[in-house]
This record gives sequence, structure tokens and C-alpha cells, in this order.
Amino acid sequence: MHTGSVICRLRKRRNRPVIASKSAEKLIDEFVDCGVAARCRARLHGTPRYMSRQASIPTSATSSQRADRADRVEQDWRDPRELQIHRPQVRRDVPYVPTDDAVVGAMLDLAQVSDHDVLYDLGCGDGRIVHAAAKRGARAVGVDVDLQRIHECQENCKRMGLSRRASFLHKSFFDVDLSEATVVTLYLLPSINLKLRPKLLWDLRPGARVVSNNFDMKEWPPDATATMNYRILYKWTIPAWVQGRWNCVVDEGHETRRGRRWRLGLNLARHFQRVRGSAFVSGQEVTLMEGRICGDQISFTLWHPQHFLPAMHFIGHLRGNILRGTCRAKAADGLDGPAMAWGGVRR
Ligand SMILES: C[S@@+](CC[C@H](N)C(=O)[O-])C[C@H]1O[C@@H](n2cnc3c(N)ncnc32)[C@H](O)[C@@H]1O
Repeated sequence: MHTGSVICRLRKRRNRPVIASKSAEKLIDEFVDCGVAARCRARLHGTPRYMSRQASIPTSATSSQRADRADRVEQDWRDPRELQIHRPQVRRDVPYVPTDDAVVGAMLDLAQVSDHDVLYDLGCGDGRIVHAAAKRGARAVGVDVDLQRIHECQENCKRMGLSRRASFLHKSFFDVDLSEATVVTLYLLPSINLKLRPKLLWDLRPGARVVSNNFDMKEWPPDATATMNYRILYKWTIPAWVQGRWNCVVDEGHETRRGRRWRLGLNLARHFQRVRGSAFVSGQEVTLMEGRICGDQISFTLWHPQHFLPAMHFIGHLRGNILRGTCRAKAADGLDGPAMAWGGVRR
């Protein structure tokens, strides 16, 4: 009998339930010294293919020779998974739990996602947030370490015809460059939010929004919250790096008319969206009150019996090292008096 015919006979059995019958065993023994027999044995007994090399030990050998050879074969043929021939899976920091569709909609509403946005969903699961953002016209990117989820995302994306606006990265979210994102969505864990916090503050541009489902960022308070299906959704706006020393000028004229000008020095420190520090007017130090920064919009109040009475409320926006804005006297029931222009440069 030829090897070919044995293979044919065994192949015919392939789709049937395999029973290690006596005749099949005999058939294999006839070709026991060739690799085919080893594979056949493996199929019959369910031995993994990489272990089936043992079957190639000739039956003619004495039992001690056989044991010796089997031992060597055993040493040569280790399970490749043990040898880590396959790349180890990237560590998964959060288990997969999908966000329900109503909450997805509420998250995108809270972030005010529009067709001007680039949204990143960190740990995208089956891609439902990415798909919903793409449907609103945004360019959306999903990031996940789970390859199976990424394939699922891509298939769903094709089926929905969103491939032009949605894409997926098989990566850890700690290794992704977020500098182009204007919106980041999270449904992770409190500890992972905290680990991601410095990356978000560093990578994202001022004004970018971060929305998290159910988990906050500890001492970084949210700028807004919403609730949906018993979930709290948190929103933060990335604050600009306003800290430093600023040389400013206030112009008391209003609208097009130029007025008296006076100098104002600012020494600012930022802690998340809170701004603290001092202002210097005519050699006097005045402590900043109610200092805040939301994206690139700064606001603070100055009060001093000699220089700022009534108190003055300043608002301005920051572009790199330039600050520009307006200030007005503050009355008990709101802002009062004409708006005066102010501006400054960072020293
Ligand atoms: C709770 S699920 C959220 C899924 C999706 N964002 C949603 O809201 O429906 C978290 C996802 O994060 C992924 N994940 C966990 N650790 C990760 C990591 N280090 N980098 C990227 N993705 C990760 C998991 O595979 C899982 O799909």
C-alpha cells in the first residue's frame, strides 16, 4: 500500500467523528517511520501537531532506545507557546463592558461633537462610540489592545459605510499620540483615568474636551456633568498653559477711543483649571481672586481699596504667549461700567 492511499483513506475520515479504531492504528503502524504517520496519529488521538513528532520513533527499536529517543525528541520539541515564538498579548488594563446606546448619545451631546471634531475613543471595544461620532460627521479613531475587537470594529464600520471617517488602531492607549484629537471619550476605570490624566493634559491642545462615562479624575474637577440611565458623565476642557509672568497694559478708553493706560504685572500659577497668583499695580501686590481657565479663556477678579475699588473682573483669551481681553468694574448685581481693553505678553 502506498503512503498516498493511506493519506486518502485518512483524509476521507477527516470530516467524520474520529474514532481510534484498531484498523486505523494498524494502518499507521505500517508507515510509522514517516512524518505522515505522526500527523495521522495526532489527528486520531487529538495530540497537538507540534507534539506529534514522538510518533516518528521506529517500532523496531528496543524499549530503552525508544525511551531514550523519546526523551531527546521531547527536549527538542518544546511547545512553541512556551518559547514565546508568538508575540505576547499587550496588557489589557480594563475589561470589555460596552456603553449602552443612550449613554453614547449623551456623551457625544455633552462633548458637543460636530463635523469639525477629531474624536478618539480610548479602549473602543466594538467601536460604537467611534461609529456614532462618525455618523455626526466627525473624524473618529478607536484605540484598543484587543485584536478581536478591532476586527469587529472594522467589520461594523464597513457594514455601516463609515470607513472614510472612522479608523481603528490596535495599540495601547498609553502609546497613542493624541495631539490631533479635539474630543477624547473614556469608559475605563478610576485608576486608569488617573494614569491617563497627565497624558491628556500634555498631549491635547487647549480647548479639547474629555468626556468620561461614570468615572471622574479625582482632584481635577469636571467643567460640566450630565446624567443618563443612572450614569454620571463628566466633561473636562483642557486648560491652556497660562502659568508664568506677564507684562500687561490696561487701556481705560472704550471701543475705538484711546484712554489713559496703566501697567499691570501678573504672576500666575495654574492647578488644573484654577488660576492663582498676584497682580502688581504701581508697586502694590494684589492677590488674584476667582481665577479660572477654560480652554484658552482666562478670567479673574482684582480687588484693592486703593487701586481696584470697585473690584475689576478680567476676561481674556490666550494665544501662545499673548493675552488679550476686556475688563469691567464689578457691581454687586453683576458687571458694571464700560469694558476696557487689556493685553499682555509672557516674559
Ligand atoms: C469598558 S470597555 C469600553 C468599550 C467602549 N469604549 C464602550 O464604551 O463601549 C474598555 C475597553 O478598553 C480596552 N482596553 C483595555 N486596556 C487597554 C489598553 N491599555 N489600551 C487600549 N485599550 C484597552 C478593552 O479591550 C475594552 O475593549
